[in-house]
Amino acid sequence: MRIVMLGAPGAGKGTQAKKIAKKYKIPHISTGDIFRANIKNETELGKKAKSYMDQGMLVPDELTISLVIDRFQEPDAQNGYVLDGFPRTIPQAERLDAALKKSGSQIDFAINVDVPDENIIQRMSGRRACVKCGATYHLQYAAPKKDGICDSCGESLILRDDDKPETVEKRLKVYHEQTQPLIDYYAQKNVLKEVDGTQGLEDVFRQIQAILGE
Ligand code: AP5
Repeated sequence: MRIVMLGAPGAGKGTQAKKIAKKYKIPHISTGDIFRANIKNETELGKKAKSYMDQGMLVPDELTISLVIDRFQEPDAQNGYVLDGFPRTIPQAERLDAALKKSGSQIDFAINVDVPDENIIQRMSGRRACVKCGATYHLQYAAPKKDGICDSCGESLILRDDDKPETVEKRLKVYHEQTQPLIDYYAQKNVLKEVDGTQGLEDVFRQIQAILGE
């Protein structure tokens, strides 16, 4: 099962992608997590990506596309994967399709987690993230058991630099300009599925399970 998660920043793509990965036993491939791990480890890629991410801009396609295409050719991804944060532009989607075509496969589901912009800023300010293992929490809706500490790995949780309200507004603008057109792109390929992302975490996941099957 090859799945693409679509939706605005903070719509809950990562939250749902982790649940999908666990239930359907496929890897969760998040470009945002890959970039954040590179920033933490101070790699060249991390240094380049940070300058774009901190401004709420997209990392250029040439730094992003081969990274993902290499990743999904690894052995653990041969039976499928859930892509979170990729593709984010039409050229990225076209390159993904071309790479899949070579191996005789295609995207099976593009799941759009629909949340209006009004809800996004509040969600982002309450988000806390673990840079070590990629787990995500929310102070109000999905709090960690111990304040400020990751339940999964014990690392301290952070407020992401790009979750400041002014950067979130920029990310939303970039989303509407560059990423939202992917909804039509996947609709034309007859793989688009819409879920209402304003519902609670478990209700959103129930909608997704109804699409993917038990
Ligand atoms: P990325 O990390 O992909 O960020 P994003 O797409 O902006 O999405 P987020 O991770 O912010 O949100 P999400 O939808 O996963 O929501 P979450 O589940 O955390 O990318 C960051 C940056 O990297 C980009 O801006 C760009 O610069 C760069 N980048 C990444 N990929 C790229 C690419 N392909 N090309 C170019 N550049 C790229 O949920 C948000 C919060 O809400 C959490 O606190 C969560 O607990 C809570 N929540 C989730 N669901 C619910 C719910 N149903 N009800 C209540 N609260 C909820």
